[in-house]
Amino acid sequence: MTQGQGSQTEQKERGIGVASAVSLRLSNASQCRHFPFWHVDLNSGCGINAQVGCDGSPLVFFANVDKSPRPFHAFFVDKVEGAILELSERLKHRPTAYCFHADNSEILPVVKRMMEQHRENPRYVFGSVIVDPNGYDTDWPIDKLRDFAHEHPRMDIILNLSLRSFSLQNGHKVQGSKGWANRRLIRPSEWPSFLGRQHGVVREPSPGGHRFLLMCLRSMPAGASRPMGMWDIHSSKGREVFQNADNKPGLAPNATPQLPGLFEAPCFSSCAQPGVGA
Ligand SMILES: C[S@@+](CC[C@H](N)C(=O)[O-])C[C@H]1O[C@@H](n2cnc3c(N)ncnc32)[C@H](O)[C@@H]1O
Repeated sequence: MTQGQGSQTEQKERGIGVASAVSLRLSNASQCRHFPFWHVDLNSGCGINAQVGCDGSPLVFFANVDKSPRPFHAFFVDKVEGAILELSERLKHRPTAYCFHADNSEILPVVKRMMEQHRENPRYVFGSVIVDPNGYDTDWPIDKLRDFAHEHPRMDIILNLSLRSFSLQNGHKVQGSKGWANRRLIRPSEWPSFLGRQHGVVREPSPGGHRFLLMCLRSMPAGASRPMGMWDIHSSKGREVFQNADNKPGLAPNATPQLPGLFEAPCFSSCAQPGVGA
């Protein structure tokens, strides 16, 4: 499956933009703004959503960085070679943007190694990680991200997950379909504690279409503003959004379940060198 695009893509990118702007703002206090911001995009795509005419998550990030320039290291990974080549061409004038043609399960150790080389203390590193798969809990390394998130508590985690996929999988679990009864399925409301984040915002999915739930999880509160319909996860509205997402009706008749592993990437060879782009 490649870069999914549709009527909700522009709204998704605006939401990601707002979330990442807040992450950058929080790290911009005078005592920390001269340290680099570390950004990781686990499902980067090529940088542009050509079918719907809007920037993709990598360019959305740079639009924010360019408004308030500061040192950064940004890692982008996609399993589709053409997409990552296109992206590295778009980012070639940015020496600290690194594009990797790889399975995203390979990238977090690379980021950690580079932080070590820069003598960063993992507990104080500011940054963000974007997870924007086509489905719910496939196409990204859940346990590796959990470990990474716990080791780097000041990095914000932005998730954009398909509720349709969640509900299909949940339907299978509830029905006890073969192979599903014992499969782990993290409910939408469980992501903050799973990833070790006590604060954050969640956006109510727009009705219709392939509903996606966008949340940005952090270790510190980010103030009371609710841009783009993002609700504090502890507010009554935020809790309601999670509750509705958790309880989305199960498998629709004749729906095709997204089996775990079905869309998993073939394992590409090792990661590209930073800056090389393939
Ligand atoms: C919904 S698109 C992401 C679009 C992008 N974040 C944006 O905002 O424009 C999902 C992307 O994840 C990539 N992908 C899926 N599985 C992957 C994996 N295991 N490793 C790396 N990339 C993967 C796909 O190739 C696709 O480009």
